[in-house]
Amino acid sequence: MSAQMNVSAFAETMLASIHPARGREGMGWSIERERVDAVLAGEYQVVRELGRGGMGVVFLARDLVLQRLVAIKVLRHEFAASEEWRERFRREARIKARLQHGSIVAVHSFSEAVDARAGNQLPLCYLVMRYVQGESLAARMDRDGALDVGTTRQILTDLAQALDYAHRDGIVHRDLKPENVLLDRDTGRAMLTDFGVAYIRSLGPADGTARLGEGPNVSVGTPAYMSPEQCTGEPDLDGRSDLYALGVLGYQMLSGALPFEAPTDTALAAMHVAVLPDPLQERAPNADATLVATIERCLEKQRERRPRTGAELCARLATAPSGRFSLASFAAKVAAAALVLGVLS
Ligand SMILES: Nc1ncnc2c1ncn2[C@@H]1O[C@H](COP(=O)(O)OP(=O)(O)O)[C@@H](O)[C@H]1O
Ligand SMILES: [Mg+2]
Repeated sequence: MSAQMNVSAFAETMLASIHPARGREGMGWSIERERVDAVLAGEYQVVRELGRGGMGVVFLARDLVLQRLVAIKVLRHEFAASEEWRERFRREARIKARLQHGSIVAVHSFSEAVDARAGNQLPLCYLVMRYVQGESLAARMDRDGALDVGTTRQILTDLAQALDYAHRDGIVHRDLKPENVLLDRDTGRAMLTDFGVAYIRSLGPADGTARLGEGPNVSVGTPAYMSPEQCTGEPDLDGRSDLYALGVLGYQMLSGALPFEAPTDTALAAMHVAVLPDPLQERAPNADATLVATIERCLEKQRERRPRTGAELCARLATAPSGRFSLASFAAKVAAAALVLGVLS
């Protein structure tokens, strides 16, 4: 246990005794934090928790050797004993490491460290990533509600580019949602993260997903964002499923509301399959018609009617006006329109 650990533990104890109502939980304590502090002492110093999802807890930490900030995702403690979950986490790390793109969060390393303390047999599985300084799209929408047309279009374009790249490598993300999109304050880019349930098409049924009983023909994902074919567990999911989720995201960014809401996951899935959403233009009357039409195209029930690729979606997005006129942007739009016409012909 490092001096750092002793100091922070001491500070927590002191504060808890000064403010009895603020116990360890109130101080941001978690079993994952305690294990990272103990096992990675000397290598990393945790600054604070950045967020958590169904699989992991993510910390902002300082890499003490390289002297830089990183994000460390730790497999949740309740899953650490499960070889299936550890394999799933390894798979996320491998997929992320293989995808090197400006709008996909970069991985530095993945490790399973032995916890040397007595009585702790479980390895600490952790993924060290680039720290994306900013906030998640979920946090942004919680604070600001609907986003303006320019911001929506920029975020959709960044994500469509990232998806196009992943899809060309045969990887379908399957869990696109605001919590898994980070907005980088430095570059202004939207970054895709959390490939925890991604599907590698080329590996087919022999990949780790299938071993977990979650092959492409079993529903996984987050119901509010799942494509009709994902809801019905179709066997051959492809990138167009992610483009549907991107359509849901676009609808939510422009209108401040999801296209479908229902009390149960089953009811929600049935709506994705059979119910048409309220026209987006009604829910976002000031939005540009071309952008609205592009988002609604992504929300088509039949995937054959959606944009075929992320690149095609980007070309369609580029034809929506930005709200400002300039000769350069006009020329870019003419070129983009020609590209769309070429793609569609
Ligand atoms: N590289 C990162 N930089 C900054 N924050 C991050 C980073 N990765 C994840 N987060 C935060 O942690 C949350 C959970 O991470 P995520 O990978 O989605 O975990 P899970 O697989 O458990 O859903 C995200 O919603 C985000 O708020
Ligand atoms: Mg997540």
